[in-house]
Amino acid sequence: MSSENRKPVKKAIFPVGGLGTRFLPATKAMPKEMLPVVDKPLIQYAVEEALAAGIEELIFVTGRGKAAIEDHFDRSYELESTLKDKGKTALLKMVDETLLPAGKVFFTRQQVPMGLGHAVLCAQAMALNEPVAILLADDLILSSTPCLAQMIESYNVVGGNLIASMEVPRDHTSRYGIISPGEIKQNLTEVTGLIEKPSPEKAPSTQAVIGRYILQPEIFDHLIAQEAGAGGEIQLTDAMAKLIGQQPFHALKFEGRRFDCGDKVGFLEANLAFALNRDDMREALKTKIGELLLAPQI
Ligand code: G1P
Repeated sequence: MSSENRKPVKKAIFPVGGLGTRFLPATKAMPKEMLPVVDKPLIQYAVEEALAAGIEELIFVTGRGKAAIEDHFDRSYELESTLKDKGKTALLKMVDETLLPAGKVFFTRQQVPMGLGHAVLCAQAMALNEPVAILLADDLILSSTPCLAQMIESYNVVGGNLIASMEVPRDHTSRYGIISPGEIKQNLTEVTGLIEKPSPEKAPSTQAVIGRYILQPEIFDHLIAQEAGAGGEIQLTDAMAKLIGQQPFHALKFEGRRFDCGDKVGFLEANLAFALNRDDMREALKTKIGELLLAPQI
């Protein structure tokens, strides 16, 4: 493999332009990526995961009504000075950790919702012909090593293009991009084909694409030429499929539990799992869950 497609991954794209209709009315005036899991917005988990994997530049593809995301990662002078005056150092530190490095954060708008592929394409000018990581904040992963860091470790070995994947029930294939698997070496599967949201009968496997990608810059050439696919949208999956055969392409079965926070039950499950994972909440929450399970429905 040429060293061309093993360049270090230093840029991450966060497509955050979606309307979040599944969470209305909560998302009428608030970005869905700001919904908190326990006490942290979804987008902050994704950003922390990227930074932990060595990402240095963060590109947010936003839309109208998403200003809260920009504010969240900026200074909040009034809040900071109030916390400082009150000697609340632990909270101040927490707020401080949301500040992203100046000059390394970029925001651009996806003016019309034309799909994930189109959102990624909006970041092309900022990607500067380098490989990019893409993180979908809706897919939240609880793991001891952050998912993107696991992927970078594999990327350093195989290079090319890499997606996170997991097994899903066959009757769920129409919710995901699905892989045609080739050679399997431990947790890495060679990807020989990709199809967006196939019906269970048409799905080539039950190995699904989860919202973490490392892609070579040639993805943008395919996205520009890409016609609308499933759901009338420009699909990232269709453009990725065109890289297969041209460059190495693998799927990593990552270690960890993934929660679909674009779905109400998945989002609530994530809240419970992340809270149960915390020493300061576990016992109290277990008691409350037990009580709730026994309580009569109103
Ligand atoms: C997107 C992708 C799909 C992928 C999924 C993972 O779909 O298009 O290929 O499997 O994310 O969450 P969405 O959930 O945005 O419909």
